[in-house]
Amino acid sequence: MSTQEAAAASEFSNSNLETMFTAEQIADRVKVLGEEITRDYQGKELVLVGVLKGSCVFMSDLMRHIDLPMDIDFMSVASYKDGTVSSGDIEILKDLTKPIRGKDVIIVEDIIDTGLTLHRLVDILGTRGANSIRIATLLDKPEPRVKKEVTVDYCGFEIPNRFVVGYGLDVAGRYRNLPFVAVVKDPDQL
Ligand code: IMP
Ligand code: MG
Repeated sequence: MSTQEAAAASEFSNSNLETMFTAEQIADRVKVLGEEITRDYQGKELVLVGVLKGSCVFMSDLMRHIDLPMDIDFMSVASYKDGTVSSGDIEILKDLTKPIRGKDVIIVEDIIDTGLTLHRLVDILGTRGANSIRIATLLDKPEPRVKKEVTVDYCGFEIPNRFVVGYGLDVAGRYRNLPFVAVVKDPDQL
């Protein structure tokens, strides 16, 4: 493969992407969040609950900055959208593997948009007897949150109302593997 062909095939230097946060900026911020969680959860029974698939990269980096005994689990949910707007109804596609009764849960998300998915998830997990439930998200779009307020306890970055990909976030299943967060410049060119 020529150098030009290699550049054309590269996802990380894809010319349709505009970097919003570099891998270094993300790493610095995630380290700070992990240190905060370490301070806040001394003596607690911490369980990180990752919401698949988007949170997988954030979760794996975050937990390596939490210097405490802890456990992890995952959920997968589908949110029903009415056109492009989330309706707030969710279906559990994959549930937790262990009970969370008495545990101190942090739900780990990639991004909060309308807040509806997370609001519903907090409701559902709230009926299961957890000692506490908090939210950690890499990204938060505060602007479009017209329907549901959710309290975000640990937030990586607040971002404007743009569609972003990378570091776990996708568009139609693509770009989750980018080590940075980027805006897709031309969505018609996917
Ligand atoms: P909501 O908060 O219920 O609207 O749903 C949030 C979910 O929508 C996230 O977990 C993502 O899967 C998806 N999402 C929202 N905004 C973006 C984005 O900018 N890029 C990629 N996925 C997004
Ligand atoms: Mg998601």
